[in-house]
Amino acid sequence: MCGIIGFTGNIEAKKLLIDGLARLEYRGYDSAGIALQYKDQPFQIVKKAGKVETLRQFCEDLDSSSTCGIGHTRWATHGGVTDENAHPHLVGRVALIHNGIIENYHELIEKFNLEHMVKSETDTEVAAAVINHFYKGDPYYAIRQAMKHMIGSFAFCIMFQDVPDKIFAIRNVSPMVAAHFADGSIIASDLTAIIQYSQTYFIVPEYHIVTLTKDDIKVETLDGQMAKPESLTVSWNIEAAQKGGYEHYMMKEIMEQPEVIRGTVMPRIQDGLPSLLSDGVDDEILKDIHEIRVIACGTAMHAGMIFKSMVEPMMRIPVTVSIASEYRYDSPIIDAHTLVIAVSQSGETIDTLEALRLSKSYGAKTLSVVNVKGSTIARESDYVVYTHAGPEIAVASTKAYTVQIATLYVIGCRIGLVKGCISEEAARKFIGDLLDVIPAIQQVLDNREEIQNASICLLEAQDAFFIGRGIDYTLSLEGALKLKEISYIHAEAYAAGELKHGTIALITPGIPVIAIATQRKVFNKTISNIKEVSSRGAYVLLITEADLRVPEEICQQQLTIPEVDDLFSVFPAAVVLQLIAYYTSYGRGLDVDMPRNLAKSVTVE
Ligand code: G6P
Repeated sequence: MCGIIGFTGNIEAKKLLIDGLARLEYRGYDSAGIALQYKDQPFQIVKKAGKVETLRQFCEDLDSSSTCGIGHTRWATHGGVTDENAHPHLVGRVALIHNGIIENYHELIEKFNLEHMVKSETDTEVAAAVINHFYKGDPYYAIRQAMKHMIGSFAFCIMFQDVPDKIFAIRNVSPMVAAHFADGSIIASDLTAIIQYSQTYFIVPEYHIVTLTKDDIKVETLDGQMAKPESLTVSWNIEAAQKGGYEHYMMKEIMEQPEVIRGTVMPRIQDGLPSLLSDGVDDEILKDIHEIRVIACGTAMHAGMIFKSMVEPMMRIPVTVSIASEYRYDSPIIDAHTLVIAVSQSGETIDTLEALRLSKSYGAKTLSVVNVKGSTIARESDYVVYTHAGPEIAVASTKAYTVQIATLYVIGCRIGLVKGCISEEAARKFIGDLLDVIPAIQQVLDNREEIQNASICLLEAQDAFFIGRGIDYTLSLEGALKLKEISYIHAEAYAAGELKHGTIALITPGIPVIAIATQRKVFNKTISNIKEVSSRGAYVLLITEADLRVPEEICQQQLTIPEVDDLFSVFPAAVVLQLIAYYTSYGRGLDVDMPRNLAKSVTVE
């Protein structure tokens, strides 16, 4: 949420910053801006509402000689989407960019009489004003003093008018990584902006002042002790964060699913059985678990719900799935026998992080399923099982979802095995079935043209319903979310059997209903529910398995997925739903990768 970048070195800063912002844009795209230093001149600041490409055009005539600057791409929180609210903010001698929220900014305005200094509606400008208030020529003093008064989450990059070629940074909660390379020093919200220049980097520690110069990066505590953060190496390259010939990141990421599921699951199979030993998760840890709590947001939470639908009937272990932002205020009943699993692609979602911290304070064991190496959630969990999905850039999550489910299935199977809930033979079959989803997904991908044709029925729709039973219902929630977030069609998921208790009143002739019927044990009942909507004129698009016999005239269109065991149909069916959402958004001429109002990584509460 908000992308930030800073660079100082021997090469042109303007291009580097704007290119970096383009890579960080998935973190927020309401407005973008840069501030550049020029020798013996005031900062040059250009900031514009709109996308990074708009900023690039406005910067074309800007002198390219600057080699030091900061840049920002914004997801608006405090204050509307205007040029004035865009970052960087300049107050006195301080230019600053920010990701996060300063919660006490109203109090700070009063405390330091800053009314006359702030022109925008943002908390960020207040932060710049506070640092400027304390700035008497010593950046470290000003930052330290300001830190004593600010409450909230933040990642700041700061430049001082009379301190040439230096960028200062500090953070609390909101992420930042930094690297020094041959041409200078770079800092950013995430690796996508850095990887082009350096394969090694470090995570900026919280409440440390970082000083970037062209020769090195210095890190020190607030009381001036030098620190040496661990140097890490990136496990993917710049190509992984590019579109690879596809028109959109989302399509590229949908297409990558067979490969990334394989890459995540295979290293965790030993002799045909699931193993978490290479992740440092010992069987002893799993043995005394009495219940599991999954905490997550958005698509990751939907992955957790699929996990519950698998674990409870198969392993007979209670699983509760909580929306992280609600869990925090629910006084959860958990203890040392609870395994809390935090699921997060980015590893930075603030509500998931805070829910994790709360769980630890209650004494629960914590394990995270995270995609981004070294992210805060990963670092703060007792155990981490990484998904190897590679960078996910499209705002609508696709590959992260199926890889999270695959990883959770491996974890669930191991827990079941260790606790004696399933036999070794059953675990072996389970893992075999899990691997079979890889060719099943590939088959769906190979038939994507058929799905594109089927999606035409949604192009003019204002509303759509997704229905299913059991795991199909749980999957419907994700299908509806995917469709609404990128096509702006009002989409609702309903348990097929529940529809008649109210929502069926909304079924009118022609309304699209995407019915998922892959679960054998409730298949006939689902078919009856589909009849209830089709007899009221709904336009039914049915998703089912090739071998299941569907009565005639029950649907207008049918998409079939390959035959797999009931617990695993979610994988190919999820891909069908992702493609439906993609083609609908594309067909409606919308911005598939950067839908309105959204951001990829939500680092504000
Ligand atoms: C945002 C993204 C979603 C994602 C959710 C949780 O809302 O747009 O795609 O599912 O955050 O993100 P996480 O990184 O914790 O999985």
